[in-house]
Amino acid sequence: MMTTLLQLEKVSSAYGQSKVLWDIDMEIVQGSAVALIGRNGVGKTTLLKTIMGVQKLSGGKITLGDQDVSAMAAHGRARSGIGFVPQGRHVFPHLTVMENLTVGLAALTGRSGLAQTGIADHIFDLFPKLTQIRARKAGLLSGGEQQQLAIGRALAGQPRLLLLDEPTEGIQPSVVKQIEHALRRIRTELGVTIVIVEQYLDFAWSFAERYHVMQRGKIVREGSTKEETAAEIAHLVNI
Ligand SMILES: Nc1ncnc2c1ncn2[C@@H]1O[C@H](COP(=O)(O)OP(=O)(O)OP(=O)(O)O)[C@@H](O)[C@H]1O
Ligand SMILES: [Mg+2]
Repeated sequence: MMTTLLQLEKVSSAYGQSKVLWDIDMEIVQGSAVALIGRNGVGKTTLLKTIMGVQKLSGGKITLGDQDVSAMAAHGRARSGIGFVPQGRHVFPHLTVMENLTVGLAALTGRSGLAQTGIADHIFDLFPKLTQIRARKAGLLSGGEQQQLAIGRALAGQPRLLLLDEPTEGIQPSVVKQIEHALRRIRTELGVTIVIVEQYLDFAWSFAERYHVMQRGKIVREGSTKEETAAEIAHLVNI
């Protein structure tokens, strides 16, 4: 049976007077992987931030599971099971890898039924590199290492929905492969539902089973990556 994990109904959002998201409807099935694609500046990051609650909703409704989270602040949504890997990673440069991961545990505060015994082994199992560099300051890490850390930090909060904003941006191909492999395992072994903003259509198509295309703050098309090719969609995304 298909269960809806996340539902957006007529979601809108603005920076001051300038509206950036217009009546976004979106339904994300539990256990699925969905790619959000679109040109620069169409509102992909704003949409993820609005789902996370770091950007205010100016209209509409967001439901996670059976809970209306529209009025809930970001930390509340994190506790409800949303994890966020922001564009540009935003690890804390002066904290070590281990300390950065520990920050991710904040999302577990007050949640029942979850083990709160520190950083789970599966994070180091997914990203073995982090084990070796656990005592290093995050500001000294390579872009690829920081990205793995940012994903690990989000996982420390044991999300059921993981939002990733361009995790492959500026990262060399071999590390992109490792990240893709880890994301597949996060989905299959941990059962986490994934929404990923991705510029590279090849990556989006190989990883996700559904796509949503944004243009000027609206979803203009959505569908199955199994039924349509990336080439058929490219004209909606390319400059
Ligand atoms: N903090 C802000 N204040 C005002 N306007 C903003 C702010 N952040 C983004 N915008 C504007 O909102 C629009 C959508 O930006 P957003 O970052 O969501 O796009 P994006 O699709 O993620 O772009 P990119 O592919 O470059 O990451 C853009 O016109 C941008 O200039
Ligand atoms: Mg963006």
